[in-house]
Amino acid sequence: MHTLSAILLAAGDGTRMKSKHPKVLCQVAGKPMIAWVLDACGAAGVGDLCVVLGAGADEVRPLLPERAAVAMQTERRGTGHAVMQCIPFLEAHRADTILLVYGDVPFLDPAMLREAHAAHLSSGAAATVLTATLPDPTGYGRIVRDAAGEFAAIVEELDADEATRAIGEINSGIYLFAADALLEVLPSLTPQNQKGEYYITDAIGLLRAAGRPVRTFRAPVETTLGANDRAGLLRLSDIAYDRIRRRHLANGVEIVSSDGVLIGPDVTIGRDTRILPGTILRGHTRIGEDCVLGPNSLIEDSEIGDGCTVNATQIYQSVLEAGVKIGPFSHVRPNSRLCAGAKIGDFVEIKNSTVGEKTAVAHLTYVGDSDVGARVNFGCGVVTVNYDGVKKYRTTIGDDVFIGCNTNLIAPVSLGDGAYTAAGSTITRDVPAGALAIERGELRLKAGWAARKLAARRKK
Ligand code: UD1
Ligand code: CA
Repeated sequence: MHTLSAILLAAGDGTRMKSKHPKVLCQVAGKPMIAWVLDACGAAGVGDLCVVLGAGADEVRPLLPERAAVAMQTERRGTGHAVMQCIPFLEAHRADTILLVYGDVPFLDPAMLREAHAAHLSSGAAATVLTATLPDPTGYGRIVRDAAGEFAAIVEELDADEATRAIGEINSGIYLFAADALLEVLPSLTPQNQKGEYYITDAIGLLRAAGRPVRTFRAPVETTLGANDRAGLLRLSDIAYDRIRRRHLANGVEIVSSDGVLIGPDVTIGRDTRILPGTILRGHTRIGEDCVLGPNSLIEDSEIGDGCTVNATQIYQSVLEAGVKIGPFSHVRPNSRLCAGAKIGDFVEIKNSTVGEKTAVAHLTYVGDSDVGARVNFGCGVVTVNYDGVKKYRTTIGDDVFIGCNTNLIAPVSLGDGAYTAAGSTITRDVPAGALAIERGELRLKAGWAARKLAARRKK
């Protein structure tokens, strides 16, 4: 097939969103709108692309793929003006089809784009406009057709008379152009309209006036939805979350209630996993089969193996191997790995650490910057003391170690395989394999001391 390249308009500011950030960074289901559009372009087979950025460009750049070219639009003078900033890109892609999309249509559907591209090529059109029919077309450009029902023009709401406003068929803002045809008409755009902006929609009219064939392609309404304010964003998120839940249900995931169950678009979940209320799964998270997640848990950019239980716990950028149980009320911070069968109980924080197979950290414990072996038992209230106020240090714990309650491990320190620490010890030196370490004050007994004190109190 013909090479498909794309131009993405993303120079809008967040004015109507009342945001300090560019509009395309507003999130739908926890993912910036532009990331949705970029993923759809990728899946539709778009090769090269040029993204038009304006204020806040540096915030958007990190989300763009490496191959993306950037064109800067320093003044916001309309969608046509934005495309004019891409003339060098168009000149380098003269033979291509150009998919032109706005960065704020998150539900752009790759299969629909492929279909539209095929229709565009087989019709031999210079431009194809993707249209949709809405029950309430307010705010959109309307598609005007001639007596034969052929496409005649796109008229913006502000420039439309009453009869035109009554038209339900709208311009989705998604177009396919023959690059050379677009290059031909771009210099002829003028800002002769109510807003005084250069409209890309006029390029379609100019092509038609020059006798070049222009076609329309009817797109399903939901693939063209956009948002202009925060209420619109919330509507899109509700739609997205609902669709995502249905997709997982269809794949054999059990969602007992949709209350507060928010699953991001890039999350995968194995079958027979059970999701309880208040569970939020974000980013690139992979969940195995037969897990129980929730209630009230948050998992972000993490990998959870088969058969894990995550109860009222937050997990960020970490890996849980199969059969790990955690919670309630624990916190796994980035760069941690809980190996198969590890058991983490309540009020435990794990940070930047590996916890070995079948190790148990049952209660009230901090494990930071540590490498912990297999079958280790942490008593209640163990702390790896990893920070001296300036630098962080690692703690190394071998296999089959038993750490008594309320042990402080002053890093850098290591406990050899099978070592044992007495409860209440503050371990300041390495403990060899198989040794018992007791590092606490000796017991001193003062016979009768308390009894005398009590007797004195009673006299008063
Ligand atoms: C536009 C279309 C309208 C269509 C609607 C679909 C025009 C003239 N009108 O109207 O026919 O029905 O989208 O949603 O194109 N942008 C820039 N630079 C600019 C202006 C806009 O990059 O100078 C970007 C914005 O970031 C936005 C997109 O272009 O992503 C569309 O701009 P917007 O102002 O939202 O256009 P609409 O008035 O909605
Ligand atoms: Ca818009």
